[in-house]
Amino acid sequence: MARIVILTGAGISAESGLGTFRDKDGLWSRYDLGDVATPEGFARNPDLVHAFYNARRANCLGAQPNAAHLALARLEAERPGDVLVVTQNVDDLHQRAGSKALIQMHGALMRALCAGCGLRWDAPAEMSATDRCPVCGAAKTRPDVVWFGEVPYHMEEIQAALSACEVFVAIGTSGNVYPAAGFAAAARRAGARCMELNLEPSDVSRVFHDRRFGPATEVVPAWVDDLLSRP
Ligand code: OAD
Repeated sequence: MARIVILTGAGISAESGLGTFRDKDGLWSRYDLGDVATPEGFARNPDLVHAFYNARRANCLGAQPNAAHLALARLEAERPGDVLVVTQNVDDLHQRAGSKALIQMHGALMRALCAGCGLRWDAPAEMSATDRCPVCGAAKTRPDVVWFGEVPYHMEEIQAALSACEVFVAIGTSGNVYPAAGFAAAARRAGARCMELNLEPSDVSRVFHDRRFGPATEVVPAWVDDLLSRP
């Protein structure tokens, strides 16, 4: 079981050019969350929802992992088996940086899901409401992302990791969205040392033992260097 569990949010990808949700000019200031990130919104207007995720997928394809993603991959490479990254991000920048032990609890922009039969496959750059499932043929194709009102993926595995880790670190997440916002408290109850790395204090900042504030591309590599300099 990983000794170090790292939760990441939109802030870690901000300096790669991908927008966050709740910062000024964030995605939720420009889009109605109920329209583009709920099953009800998708049922009402699938074209709008596909257009939203097609645009995000295009941004993601044009973005590169930054120094923070790379530092987490370096930490895992130096401490094999000790590190688990749990991300709320649907981009693929952790994978492209080289992280292997990775859970995308809110799903993946680069994957498609058939709401009819549950099949998953690699998403094309542009998805549409008329796309058919390659196996069952239903035109119920959606991005494989978790919407509000749906249960995040791999929760049992995450809970087990939180109860067993020695160090829990949250990076670039505002602490607004549960269950992820409750992970620090769960890890702390189980005895982990908890650290927040963020641009500014999150809504759950008080739960952490330690905090370092600044851009992810600075504070994350510095934290990884500190950790690796210890035996
Ligand atoms: P938010 O947009 O809520 O929060 C982003 C956090 O990153 C804030 O605390 C910012 O201060 C911080 N931040 C911004 N730029 C940063 C930088 N350069 N370096 C470090 N930190 C920075 O994003 P999340 O917390 O990830 O869910 O949002 C959680 C969930 O809400 C998302 O997964 C998504 C969203 O609605 C779904 O769509 C289901």
